[in-house]
This record gives sequence, structure tokens and C-alpha cells, in this order.
Amino acid sequence: MWKIGNIEIKGKTVLAPMAGITTFAYREFMRSFGVALCYTEMISDSGLIFNNEKTYEYLPHKNENRPTSIQLFGGTTDKLLAAIEKIEKHTDNYDFLDLNLGCPVPKVTRNNGGSAWLKHPNELISMVEAIVKASSKPVTVKIRIGWDEKRINFKELLPKLEEAGVSLIAVHLRTTRQLYGGKARYDLAKNIQDLVSVPLVISGDIYTLDDAIKALEITGAKAVMLARGQLGNPFLATQIETYFETGEKLPNPTLHQQLEYLWTLSNMMVKEKGEHMGMLVMRGIAPHFIKGFPFTKTSRVKLTKMSTLGQLKVIIEDIKGQSLLR
Ligand SMILES: Cc1cc2nc3c(=O)[nH]c(=O)nc-3n(C[C@H](O)[C@H](O)[C@H](O)COP(=O)(O)O)c2cc1C
Repeated sequence: MWKIGNIEIKGKTVLAPMAGITTFAYREFMRSFGVALCYTEMISDSGLIFNNEKTYEYLPHKNENRPTSIQLFGGTTDKLLAAIEKIEKHTDNYDFLDLNLGCPVPKVTRNNGGSAWLKHPNELISMVEAIVKASSKPVTVKIRIGWDEKRINFKELLPKLEEAGVSLIAVHLRTTRQLYGGKARYDLAKNIQDLVSVPLVISGDIYTLDDAIKALEITGAKAVMLARGQLGNPFLATQIETYFETGEKLPNPTLHQQLEYLWTLSNMMVKEKGEHMGMLVMRGIAPHFIKGFPFTKTSRVKLTKMSTLGQLKVIIEDIKGQSLLR
């Protein structure tokens, strides 16, 4: 157990913010596997300021379990402040306000948002100070290690962010230039928790329990952030949580269990978004549940084209039938 501000966090796994994926249904699904903290998808300050209806749908759900962090992105202090005012008028249904300082997408960095902030550390720290002052909730940040190989500056930034008043720092161990490729730079992250007393959460390449054990050992961080490694493998969270509670290393799920998880998530997604939108979102996620299992390639393609829960049911039964034949 560890704390962000005064709030106890009961576990070692945090669900990463992921645009297009970590909707309300997805967050609730992952909580059932034990993740201790969830973030919304990144939410645009402009979308909130201009009362864009779609943007407001990204805010936490009224029935949301907690703790939940709202992740906000934007390129100027003034607009971020205006967006926070909007959030605070709209909902109290969250625990932390997270600033996205790591998004590498040009559409975001061109407007000085996301990881573009890392190129201007002084402005970044002044902005964070202003946000901490204005927000009624504890403020957290998610950063990368730097803009590019020549500008790796996270170790200087960590204590400054702490001084500016943040309550938690999530560090994605890649540069902006790396986007999502190459390896996360654990070689640069030895004992980084010693640099600050606020909790660190470590992000990058956590695909297995052993990856999580290693990441925590190297960095000393309080928790790992699960992103691509949990896509189609929600039980990874349970494996990590169980290990740190009991020392037991649970085996990987069977194909049948994976299909159960897929069915559950699809139904939750459809309940949240309706069948049409829910199944569109699931087209991107579903194939991950059967990757690595032999003879499922044709089914994976079918999953990228499904439109209804009925079609998903047929594909699942088909996979089960085939696995019995072998
Ligand atoms: C599809 C996708 C969407 C993402 N969206 C966000 C986002 O909205 N906000 C954010 O801070 N990071 C976002 N990320 C980055 C992840 O939170 C995480 O830091 C990154 O994927 C590194 O972890 P991994 O190597 O375990 O995937 C996203 C990543 C992916 C793959």
C-alpha cells in the first residue's frame, strides 16, 4: 500500500491512459483484474473550453469506481486553467488531475501540448505550479525521459516537479522521438525513486510479471503502468498483484479463459457505447486476446471486421470448436 497525497493506493499496477481504449467500460473491466488506479483517455483542454460534447464524454462516469485520474492535455497555462474550471464545474467524480506531458503526436506537440513541454523546462514548471494552485484535486504528471537522445532531462525535472507540488509522477522511459518504438530505457532509470519522495509510476514495456518485478527492482518505483502489455492480457494485472501480495506466480490464462475475458469486455463496451460503436472499438482490441495462440490467424482477421455481439459469439464458438479438434 502506498499513497498519492492522502489517498491510499492498494496495489502495484496502474492502468495507463490510452486514447481510444481506456473508456469507462475498459477501466471497470481492468479494475476487476486488480489494477489499483485508472486514468481516463487524454482529454483536450480546447474540447472542454468549447463545450465539445464528445470531449465531455471522456470525463469519468457517474458510476465509476475509484480512484480515477482525469488526464488533461494542452499547450498553454491559461487554457489548461480554463479547462480545469470547466472540469470542476462539471464533475467531482475523480481523485487526481493528471497533466499529459508525454504525448508525442504532432497534432498535440505542434500546439505545444504533450511532450513539447519537456523542451521548455522553465515554462513547464511555472505551468505546473499554477495548475497545482488552481486544482482542488491533487495534481499528477506523466512525462517521457526527454524530447530526443540529446535532450534527456527527466532526472533534472523530477525534483523540480516535486517542488512545484505534484503528488505523483509517471515516467514513460522513452524519448518523444522514439514514439512507441525501440526499448524503454531502463538502463537510465536505476533507483530513480531516490531522486524524489513523491511516488513514481514506471511506464514502458511491461508485458509479463517478470518485466514488472524487474522494472520495480531497477527503478524503486511504487507501481508499474500497464499499457500495450495488458491489451488482450488483462490477467497480467492479477499476476502482478498476486505476486506482490503472496509471492505466488500464477500461470498464464488458457485460450478458453481469454475468450471469456474477451466476451466480458465486449459486453461491457457495448453497454457503454451501444453495439455499433462498442464493436468498432472492440475490433482494435479483440485480436490481442488470441494472439500467440496457434491456428487463430483467420479468427484474428474476422475479429477486426465484426459488427455485432452475435458475430463475436460465432467467432468465439468457432475458435473453441477448432481448439477441440487439435
Ligand atoms: C494506443 C495508445 C494510446 C495511448 N494514449 C495515451 C494517452 O492518452 N495519454 C498518455 O499519457 N499516454 C498514452 N499512451 C502511452 C501509454 O500510456 C504508455 O505510456 C506507453 O504505451 C508505454 O508503455 P508500453 O511500452 O507498456 O506500451 C498511449 C499508448 C498507446 C499504445
